[in-house]
Formats: sequence, C-alpha cells, structure tokens
Amino acid sequence: MKNHTLVKVSIILVMIVLFISCEKTNDPKYNPPADHTISQGGYMHKSGLTQPLVNCVSCHGSDLKGGTTGVSCFECHGTKW
Ligand code: HEC
Ligand code: HEC
Repeated sequence: MKNHTLVKVSIILVMIVLFISCEKTNDPKYNPPADHTISQGGYMHKSGLTQPLVNCVSCHGSDLKGGTTGVSCFECHGTKW
C-alpha cells in the first residue's frame, strides 16, 4: 500500500514539474502593457485583437509592423492583415 501511495505522489510531482516547465517556455517575449489581457499561445494580446487595423495601429504602427512598440504582428503571424 505504501508503495502505491509513493507512486501516486511521484506521478503528481512529475506532472507539476512538467506543467511548470511548459509555463516557462510560454514566458512572454516582450513586456506588454497591463491592458494586454488576452493570452494567445502564451503571448499577451490586447482586447479587440481580431480587428487590429482598428485597435492596434495606434501603437503597433499603421502597417502593424511595430510602430512605437517595436513589436510587429507579422513576426508571429505572417502577413495576415
Ligand atoms: C497603447 C499602445 C498599444 C496598443 C493600442 C496595443 N499595444 Fe500591443 N504592445 C504595446 C507595447 C508597449 C508592447 C510591448 C513592447 C515591448 O515590450 O518591447 C506590446 C506588445 C504586444 C504583444 C507581445 C506580447 C508578449 O507577450 O510578448 C502582443 C502580442 C501585442 N502587443 C498585441 C496587441 C494587439 C493584438 C493589439 C490590438 C488589439 C495591441 N497590441 C494594441 C503597446 C500597445
Ligand atoms: C510574439 C508572438 C506574437 C506577436 C508579436 C503577435 N501575436 Fe497574435 N498570436 C500569437 C500566438 C502564438 C497566437 C495563438 C496561435 C495562433 O492562433 O496563431 C496568436 C493569436 C492571435 C489571434 C487569434 C487567432 C487568429 O489567428 O485569429 C489574433 C487575432 C492575433 N493573434 C492578432 C495579433 C495582432 C493584431 C498582433 C499585433 C498587434 C499580434 N497578434 C502579435 C503570437 C503573437
């Protein structure tokens, strides 16, 4: 019985470690403002992300190639918009 408990505890520990290491690989690449609350694949997007030409151009540039933020949408998305 004790061995079974040990095995279960070990499995849970391994799962926790795996979970934490996955979280770490999702660390944001940049330092987005707090209003970037929508996580997409671990990267924080601002709300209204489906209409970037309306909601994101003021900072990410009218061409979405970075603007004042230096973060281009296309470095992760290809030329989608
Ligand atoms: C008020 C200015 C501003 C607006 C508007 C804005 N952003 Fe950003 N965004 C930033 C800044 C500043 C950064 C971080 C730049 C850096 O760290 O070098 C950033 C970073 C990001 C990142 C990288 C986040 C990460 O975790 O690495 C994403 C993705 C992003 N923005 C998406 C969006 C989307 C989508 C919109 C529109 C819906 C948007 N942003 C609108 C200023 C803005
Ligand atoms: C550092 C990488 C990165 C940057 C920069 C980035 N995104 Fe994303 N974005 C992702 C990832 C990863 C996903 C989730 C996987 C996917 O759907 O491609 C995602 C998903 C999305 C989605 C929802 C899924 C889809 O494809 O419709 C939208 C909309 C979006 N991003 C818009 C933007 C806009 C607009 C910008 C620039 C302001 C931006 N992203 C910048 C990484 C990024």
